[in-house]
Amino acid sequence: MSTDGVNHSRRRMLIGTTAAVGAVGAAFVATPFVKSWSPSAKAKAAGAPITADLSKLEPGQQMVVEWRGKPVWVVRRTQEALADLKKVAGDLRDPDSAESVQPDFAKNEHRSIKPEYVVLVGICTHLGCSPTYRPEVAPADLGQSWRGGFFCPCHGSTYDMAGRVYKGVPAPLNLEVPPYKYLSDSVVLIGEA
Ligand code: FES
Repeated sequence: MSTDGVNHSRRRMLIGTTAAVGAVGAAFVATPFVKSWSPSAKAKAAGAPITADLSKLEPGQQMVVEWRGKPVWVVRRTQEALADLKKVAGDLRDPDSAESVQPDFAKNEHRSIKPEYVVLVGICTHLGCSPTYRPEVAPADLGQSWRGGFFCPCHGSTYDMAGRVYKGVPAPLNLEVPPYKYLSDSVVLIGEA
């Protein structure tokens, strides 16, 4: 009688343990299923347009957002920086952006919808490093003629404040302008023109 009792309770315990393992097993089985859904969902999210709020961006400041795994810069240019775009044109490889990648609306001197704000993909057109924002005029390391722009630390390519590449550097093209549009005065949608 007592042996029976022990056996029953052991059986109950074993059944309970098996049920618990079964539940854990189900959880492990479910995870790969969820993961198999993830790439397309992630890919969708990775390709989706993103918004950037420019309301707190002061003149001269840069903000960085991520779109499709790439850094995208928005720079609010000062009036001086806008005036300097004309002055540096003679030192640029493609001042009219004839060969660079950009939406049609960015094929102008300031390469943007609103002159004050420039939106650029922050990837050097040489070998893909991310250049550094250098808005200072004539800093010691970049020389007297530097009017502000972007400097790539990998092999020294330089771009002006519209992302236009200078002559005599390894990068062949101006920085890319992504498709974008304004949703309001201060909110821009990046990834959709
Ligand atoms: S990757 Fe920028 S200069 Fe080479």
